[in-house]
Amino acid sequence: MTDSSTVSRPAPSQGSSKETAGTPSPLFRTRISGTGSYLPEKLLTNADIEKLVDTNDQWIRERTGIEARHIAADDQATSDLGLIAAQRALEASGLKPEDIDLIIFCTVSPDHVMPSAACLLQKKLGARHVMSFDLSAACSGFIYGLSIADQFIRTGVHKHVLVVGAEVLHRYVNYQDRETCILFGDGAGAVIASRATDNQDSRILSFHLRADGNLGDLLLLPAGGSAIPFSQNVLDQNLQYVQMKGREIFKNAVRAMSETSQEALDTNHLSIDQIDWLIPHQANLRIIDAVGRHFGIPAEKVVINVQHTGNTSAATIPIALDEAVRDGRIKREQMVLLTAFGAGLTSGSLLFKV
Ligand code: UT7
Repeated sequence: MTDSSTVSRPAPSQGSSKETAGTPSPLFRTRISGTGSYLPEKLLTNADIEKLVDTNDQWIRERTGIEARHIAADDQATSDLGLIAAQRALEASGLKPEDIDLIIFCTVSPDHVMPSAACLLQKKLGARHVMSFDLSAACSGFIYGLSIADQFIRTGVHKHVLVVGAEVLHRYVNYQDRETCILFGDGAGAVIASRATDNQDSRILSFHLRADGNLGDLLLLPAGGSAIPFSQNVLDQNLQYVQMKGREIFKNAVRAMSETSQEALDTNHLSIDQIDWLIPHQANLRIIDAVGRHFGIPAEKVVINVQHTGNTSAATIPIALDEAVRDGRIKREQMVLLTAFGAGLTSGSLLFKV
């Protein structure tokens, strides 16, 4: 028995052809019909960061694995990055914006407090006036979002759901704090979650999601919300920037991603050798290696791109997924396990068959 929000069901048969929105049929399954990603052109290298704080390339590589992060241009906001990733995912799926039934935009760095980045994306994409909302679960956001998309598809309410993970984190980072400024970058990834219509066995098999608000102060952005609205005092104390207790986050990240990954195996009665790819949240190479070791998966089955992206929070998993799909590593029929951890503290895993 776990305290995660969990869903796992046997492979369902295809549902009936009745498709009235709002009258759910429980017999559909969800496949990922397209992926896309976008990384801004500008790079912030370790050499650049050496000029800002007391650190060095060797320390950053050894302790994090990161070599460079992408940084959005001055005129790019989070929905702009999400737009390009979404367009690429649509193209890959062979769908058009008007085919999308729901937009879930996973981010902790939306363009504005309101309106949502999802509504901005709906307009920029030229999608129909469909339900669109932001989802705030930090680095676990994409897995949370994909699990919600799965529910709308399983129940027959929707056919195609756009799930975006996008962040412009560099605007929330204090480039005088050497513990955080080495980690974060900007980027966007997107998938189209679609009702499976063919005879193949593609589907989301399970998700295991957690939240533990007791540990929320380990990673937070204090100001800008209703608790601490913007003021001169906020700026004087740098409360507009991310604050992190790195060592504690590190330990909790390894534990939560290892446990929720194991839950996915146990629930689906799978052994580790039946997993083709593990795509963990890309925060730190040492965290990824530790999760791989705990979980017992060979290093060559772990998708890693943190070296060139840094930590892009909700965007890390869909970016890594898209890269591995496009370079041919991830293929039809394979089993892919996603696992994430982030502020909240949130965490989780999601298992799907391609
Ligand atoms: O998406 C989730 C968000 N965040 C994370 O996942 C981050 C998780 N945590 C981490 O990745 C690591 O804890 C860090 C990379 C942030 C820090 O690495 P660490 O191996 O845990 O270092 P530490 O905090 O134990 O610090 C070791 C030493 C300290 O010096 P003293 O006290 O031993 O003299 C730090 O002051 O390293 C020092 N240090 C640095 N030195 C050079 C901390 N940051 C830096 C730096 N350059 N950038």
